[in-house]
Amino acid sequence: MSRHRPSSARHYPRTARLNELLREIVAEELERIDDERLTMVTVTGVDCDADLGHATVYFDSLSGAEGDDETLAALAEVRYLLQRAVARQARIKRTPELGFEPDPAVRTAERLEAVLRTLPEVASTTPAAGERLIEEQKDYYRARAPEYEQWWDRSGRYDLGDDEHRRWVDEVEQLEAAVDSAQLTGWVLELACGTGVWTRPLSQRADRLHAVDASAEVIELNRARLPEGHCPVTFEQADLFDWEPSECYDSVFFSFWLTHVPAGRFGAFWELVDRALVPGGQFFLLDNAGPYNITDDLDDPLGPGVTRRQLADGREFDIVKQYYEPAELADRLADLGWDAHFATTDSYFLYGGGRRAGHGSN
Ligand SMILES: C[S@@+](CC[C@H](N)C(=O)[O-])C[C@H]1O[C@@H](n2cnc3c(N)ncnc32)[C@H](O)[C@@H]1O
Repeated sequence: MSRHRPSSARHYPRTARLNELLREIVAEELERIDDERLTMVTVTGVDCDADLGHATVYFDSLSGAEGDDETLAALAEVRYLLQRAVARQARIKRTPELGFEPDPAVRTAERLEAVLRTLPEVASTTPAAGERLIEEQKDYYRARAPEYEQWWDRSGRYDLGDDEHRRWVDEVEQLEAAVDSAQLTGWVLELACGTGVWTRPLSQRADRLHAVDASAEVIELNRARLPEGHCPVTFEQADLFDWEPSECYDSVFFSFWLTHVPAGRFGAFWELVDRALVPGGQFFLLDNAGPYNITDDLDDPLGPGVTRRQLADGREFDIVKQYYEPAELADRLADLGWDAHFATTDSYFLYGGGRRAGHGSN
């Protein structure tokens, strides 16, 4: 139980001194009481009426608002003990009747903090919150590795039923055709390669492939699932927000990754893509087209840019999910010096690619 003493009671007006004295008495008495329900409770203040008829004891608890009912019930049961301690120790004419309330100031601050955490600008761009989200996103994919491809196969809890499944397969075929026509040959870099949904086809077109991902778990699955006849593939476990390419590649490919790049790191990410490419090299990307499609049924948007995801075992993670319209993405990249073109399939996917402006079109 925490408590704070004023540095000098002499400067307090009379009622403030009395309030602080009552707070200390109640807090000390609570420490003596052996009740599990009260061990996490802190007495944050006391507000006593001028006529000493009533004193409200404000508290906070580590169990937060959800634990208030239990805390209030426990306090009501021990009220007579607290009342007696005040009567014995306060040496005042009359012992005020004690009442108990959760501290509204603390609750307002907690609520404000919770709201701020959900704001995309705060969640993804203030340094501390942004770092937290990036770590949580890595944890999420590490934990999701074994079940990840159910999403791609539309099996298990991602099963859409026959009609939607057919549409999904059609649109996946469109992506495969688009990747084919991009001719990702030569030395290819795959960012955030995951369990290998796209590493597999890339490894049959590229001459050499280097695949990077933050998760050792997904890399292990990816390596094990490489098809026969694949080109030489090297894997690297690294955080892309803290990674530098040591080579230059003919093509950089990333699927279902750009939407996980926080808004505040968009420019830095594209600088990384630029540094990874040989002059005139191309990038190609695939991603979700938007939040309002069936692939995101299991998303719980916390606001633009941040989403809460749940694994099959119920664990929840907050991650970055930042969607783009094709034209908007092309415009933003043009501002950064890229010549890029994007399209969407009917429902699910965004795809396209480009090069540095002045190096020919895609
Ligand atoms: C949506 S999955 C996409 C995987 C794969 N590209 C695909 O299309 O199936 C996102 C991938 O990003 C990886 N990842 C998450 N945060 C990362 C980070 N900071 N650096 C590198 N990889 C990261 C995850 O481990 C996961 O494999």
